[in-house]
Amino acid sequence: MLKSQDIYFLLFYTMLNLNSTPTNMTTQPTQDRKIFFLFPLALISLFLLGTLRFLLDNLKNNQFQFLWQNKFLRVPINVSENEIIEESCNVFEGKWVWDNVSYPLYKEETCPYLVKQVTCQRNGRPDSFYQNWRWQPHGCNLPRFNALKMLEMLRDKRIMFIGDSIQRGMFESMVCLVQSDGDHTIKRVPPRKIFRIEEFNTSIEYYWAPFMVESISDHATNHTVMKRLVKLDSVENHRKLWEGVDILVFESYVWWMHKPFINATYGSPENVREYNVTTAYKLALETWGSWIESSINPQKQKVFFATMNWEWKGGIDGNCFNETQPMEGPYWGTGSNLEIMSILKDVIEKLKVNVRLLNITQLSEYRKDGHTSVFGERRGKLLTKEERSEPKTYADCIHWCLPGVPDTWNQLLYAILLQDYRNH
Ligand SMILES: *[C@@H]1O[C@H](CO)[C@@H](O)[C@H](O)[C@H]1NC(C)=O
Ligand SMILES: *[C@@H]1O[C@H](CO)[C@@H](O)[C@H](O)[C@H]1NC(C)=O
Ligand SMILES: *[C@@H]1O[C@H](CO)[C@@H](O)[C@H](O)[C@H]1NC(C)=O
Ligand SMILES: *[C@@H]1O[C@H](CO)[C@@H](O)[C@H](O)[C@H]1NC(C)=O
Ligand SMILES: *[C@@H]1O[C@H](CO)[C@@H](O)[C@H](O)[C@H]1NC(C)=O
Ligand SMILES: *[C@@H]1O[C@H](CO)[C@@H](O)[C@H](O)[C@H]1NC(C)=O
Ligand SMILES: *[C@@H]1O[C@H](CO)[C@@H](O)[C@H](O)[C@H]1NC(C)=O
Ligand SMILES: *[C@@H]1O[C@H](CO)[C@@H](O)[C@H](O)[C@H]1NC(C)=O
Repeated sequence: MLKSQDIYFLLFYTMLNLNSTPTNMTTQPTQDRKIFFLFPLALISLFLLGTLRFLLDNLKNNQFQFLWQNKFLRVPINVSENEIIEESCNVFEGKWVWDNVSYPLYKEETCPYLVKQVTCQRNGRPDSFYQNWRWQPHGCNLPRFNALKMLEMLRDKRIMFIGDSIQRGMFESMVCLVQSDGDHTIKRVPPRKIFRIEEFNTSIEYYWAPFMVESISDHATNHTVMKRLVKLDSVENHRKLWEGVDILVFESYVWWMHKPFINATYGSPENVREYNVTTAYKLALETWGSWIESSINPQKQKVFFATMNWEWKGGIDGNCFNETQPMEGPYWGTGSNLEIMSILKDVIEKLKVNVRLLNITQLSEYRKDGHTSVFGERRGKLLTKEERSEPKTYADCIHWCLPGVPDTWNQLLYAILLQDYRNH
């Protein structure tokens, strides 16, 4: 395509030529006359073309975006009657119901952004029932996830999922839920992954920070749960990239719970000692909380915290291998530490900034069938056939297959954002 510079160059070139034409065309007076009329016409056309092109080029650079209607015009979101949730309804209390008509919300093979860790079908999982369950709150119905509405709510915004690999599942789920709308790219900028949707000027981001606060495990790939050292009093390295993000969704649990004690520092970085995990978690949350209070503008930003998710340890081998159905009836695993839950509640309630809990622990606990089991990765590699035949050692009952349970976490987030939108 012609650039505006090219057209102006052509214009300039034509003007030079115009001066030289009479000498070339002396023998043909009639043609000369024609040319005499044609040149100004060409000049005017070229000038108009150039101007148009110049305008278009600038539109692309967003300098005149008000004219670029399709691309940047805000579309009002229609919140219909059946998408409204009464405030009295606790959306986190409910049950899973079989729904193979509406679920899954996307297909594993049509979302290219899933990491190998979560593509259970491709990794050989024989059953796919885990994709067909819908979360049904006791007191109300959840709105169906609508990608266009979600993107409209995220227009000109950044949403960031911060935490460990479980939180990465939530990030990937969100990407897959919206990816069919608009042109998009994914970029790795460790410790972040950034999914951009140009049409909506939206970024969906993931930020690796397994302890919220700083630790020696903050490198995006070079980390191991066997070696942990947490700086309980600092988010210094992280906060630069957290600041100004419109919607922040935090999660941090599994890395703390590896052992009952954890090496950490508070104050002097030289003073490493073992902390009781409960104590350490509380200190870290308070550090995080004071960052929230000092830097979040509640008028512009929203903060969520997803509650813990822990390894499922029932089953024949004491794990989730070969589980194909959700739990029926109440179940609360011993790994979901109620003390940590109440610390979280206390710290958040004391904050001046409204941080909302995504209380997904219980609904996830029911889903013993939703884990990757032996159809995932270990240390960045898919399990070998031999390893798969040893679920006792190798079954992963922490991570989730996608499509799957994390889609529901996002559906809940979506439902809350939609109510915010309506009430604002
Ligand atoms: C809301 O409804 C109008 C009219 O039906 C439609 O043009 C618009 O795209 C809808 N907005 C969204 C975000 O779906
Ligand atoms: C959906 O589930 C019902 C009940 O289990 C079953 O009869 C039906 O064949 C399933 N449909 C599909 C498309 O899998
Ligand atoms: C895109 O969104 C960012 C905020 O995330 C905003 O600063 C910027 O002005 C937006 N760009 C356009 C072209 O609207
Ligand atoms: C990983 O990090 C450790 C220190 O935490 C370092 O000694 C090692 O060289 C790193 N490995 C790679 C492959 O970068
Ligand atoms: C850690 O501290 C909490 C509360 O202070 C206590 O309930 C828990 O038993 C302690 N854990 C260990 C392993 O000592
Ligand atoms: C803390 O660090 C020391 C020294 O590296 C190590 O021996 C100990 O096992 C660590 N404690 C925990 C709970 O990881
Ligand atoms: C998995 O469970 C089914 C029944 O639910 C059983 O028939 C099968 O033998 C189990 N497979 C293994 C490898 O344990
Ligand atoms: C989260 O939900 C569970 C049960 O669904 C409940 O026991 C727990 O108290 C809730 N946590 C908070 C912080 O509200």
